[in-house]
Amino acid sequence: MQEAIILYALGALAAAAALPRLRARLELSQAKHPSLTGHARLARRIAALVPFYEYDESRFFGCDGAPAQVAARRRDGFMRLAALYCARYARTAALTSQAAENISDLQFTGAYRVPFQFSRYVREQLRVGAFLESSSGVTVTDLDGNRFYDLTGSYGVNVFGYDFYKSCIDESAARVRGLGPVLGAYHPAVAYNARRLREISGLDEVSFHMSGTEAVMQAVRLARYHTRRSHLVRFCGAYHGWWGDVQPGVGNPVPARDTYTLKDMHADSLRVLRRRRDIACVLINPLQALHPNAGAPGDSSLVDSARRAHFDRERYTEWLQELRAVCSERGIVLIFDEVFVGFRLAPGGAQEYFGVRADMVTYGKTLGGGLPVGVVCGRADLMKRFREDRPADVCFARGTFNSHPYVMGAMQIFLERLETAKIRALYANLDAHWDDRAQRLNLRLFEAGLPLQVANLSSIWTVYYTRPSRYNWMLQYYLRAEGLALSWIGTGRLIFSLDFSDDDFAAVCDRFVTASQAMQQDGWWWADAALTDKSIKRGILREIITQRLRAR
Ligand SMILES: Cc1ncc(COP(=O)(O)O)c(C=O)c1O
Repeated sequence: MQEAIILYALGALAAAAALPRLRARLELSQAKHPSLTGHARLARRIAALVPFYEYDESRFFGCDGAPAQVAARRRDGFMRLAALYCARYARTAALTSQAAENISDLQFTGAYRVPFQFSRYVREQLRVGAFLESSSGVTVTDLDGNRFYDLTGSYGVNVFGYDFYKSCIDESAARVRGLGPVLGAYHPAVAYNARRLREISGLDEVSFHMSGTEAVMQAVRLARYHTRRSHLVRFCGAYHGWWGDVQPGVGNPVPARDTYTLKDMHADSLRVLRRRRDIACVLINPLQALHPNAGAPGDSSLVDSARRAHFDRERYTEWLQELRAVCSERGIVLIFDEVFVGFRLAPGGAQEYFGVRADMVTYGKTLGGGLPVGVVCGRADLMKRFREDRPADVCFARGTFNSHPYVMGAMQIFLERLETAKIRALYANLDAHWDDRAQRLNLRLFEAGLPLQVANLSSIWTVYYTRPSRYNWMLQYYLRAEGLALSWIGTGRLIFSLDFSDDDFAAVCDRFVTASQAMQQDGWWWADAALTDKSIKRGILREIITQRLRAR
C-alpha cells in the first residue's frame, strides 16, 4: 500500500515536472500556421512524395473539364502565341536554350515558371529568353531588339531607375579607380557609408557583407552569440535569403532544427515569444505585410485562384509594436530584414515607414547602388564580435569581398543622392501615388469584366485572380507578348521603379488590360459552377495519388 502511494506521488511529481514542457510544446503547435507553409518538416515530407507527371496535349488544354470548343480556343490562342514567340524572340530564345544546357540556374527557373504538369510543354512552345541587350529608362531590350517595360525591378534592386544605378556605378568606378580592387584595407567611402547608415538606421554600428543572405546570417549569428540562446523565429512564408536556417522546409535538404516558424500577425506567436527561453531573435520581413503567412507568390504554385493579398498598414504597424514590446520584455533581438523593402518604402526604410525601431536591421539590394551588397546595422552591444573578458570566445565573420571599393563607392553615391531634392521628390505622397495607380488599373480590369485584380504595398504589386481557374499562370506569357517583362516567378510580383512616369504607367495599364483581354478571349478563364478552388485542389490531389499508386 505504502509502495503504491509512493509510486502515485512519484508519478504525480513527474507529471507536474513535465507539464510546463508539455504546455510549451502545445503553445508552439498552436502558434504554427495551419497551412503546409507553416509546417516546414511536414511540408518537406509531403513534397518528397509528390511524383512527377505531366499533361498530354488534350489534358493540357482541358484539365478543368472545359467543353471541347473552349479547349480548342485555348489551343488556337496558345499556338498563336507560340508562333509569335518563335518569330519575335528567336535570337534571345536560341541563346537561352543553348546556355541552359550548362547553367543550372536557368534550368531551375525555366522548369519552375509554371505548375509542373504544364511546364515541359510550355517550355517547348513558349520559349522565354533569359538574355537582355540593354536597359534604358523603365525599359529593357532583348537580343532581338524587343523593348519591354520592366516590371521585374531586378528583384527589387531597381528603386530609382536603371539610369540612376548606371551612373552610380560609372561614378564609383571613376572615384575609386586610384585604389582599384584592393581588399582588406578600406576606401574612405566606407567611413562615409558607415556614418550615413548609422544616421539612417538609428543604430550604433555597421558591418558590410556581399549579399542580403549573408547579412541575415550574420545578424542571426550575432543575436545567438550575445543572447546565448539557440533559436530564431521567422514568420510563416517570409523569405530571408537562401541560407538553411531561415529557409526551413521545401527547398532546403537540411532540416533547420533551431528555427521556429510561427504564425504572422497572431497572438499565439506572441505567447510563444513571451514564454520560451530559447529564442535569440525574431526576423521580420516587412514585405509579408502584403500577404501574411503566404510564401513568395510564384506562378509555379498558382494552381488555382486562391491567392489573395491585401496590405493593411495600421494593422501591421500594431503588430510590429506588439512584437517590439514583447522582444524588449524578453531580451529577444528584433531584426528587421529590410533587404527588399529598405529605401523603397521611405528613405529611412521600414523602421521610418512603420515608426517602429529594431535592434538590428539588414539592408541590401538597392543600397549597393547597382552592385551586390549586404549590410547589418545594430546596437553596439549586439554587433561586437568578441567578449572583453573571454578572448577566445569570438563570433567570427569575414568575407573576401566585403567592403569592396567599387561597391562602397557606388553605395556612397547612392547615399549622397538619397539626400538630393530630385530623389526626395520621388518619395512625396509615395503610397497615395502607387495606391491610386493600383486602383486605376483595378477599375479598368473590373470594368472590362476581367477576373483579376492587383494588390500593392507601395510600388510592390501582386496579381490575384477572382474566378477559379487552373490557367492563371498563362497571363505571364500574354503580358510578355504585350511587352511587359516579369521576373521568372511570374505575376505574383510586379515591381515598379519609382521613375515610372504617368505616361509610362498608362502604357503599362493599356498593355496589361490588352493582354488580359486576349487571355480571356482565348478561353483560359472559362469556368462553370462546378469549378471552384476547392474542386481544383481536390482534382490535383487525386491526380497525385493516382500517379503515386501507379508508380508502385
Ligand atoms: C527580405 C530578404 N532578405 C534577404 C534576401 C537575400 O538577399 P540576397 O539575394 O542578396 O542574398 C532577400 C532577397 O530577395 C530578401 O528579399
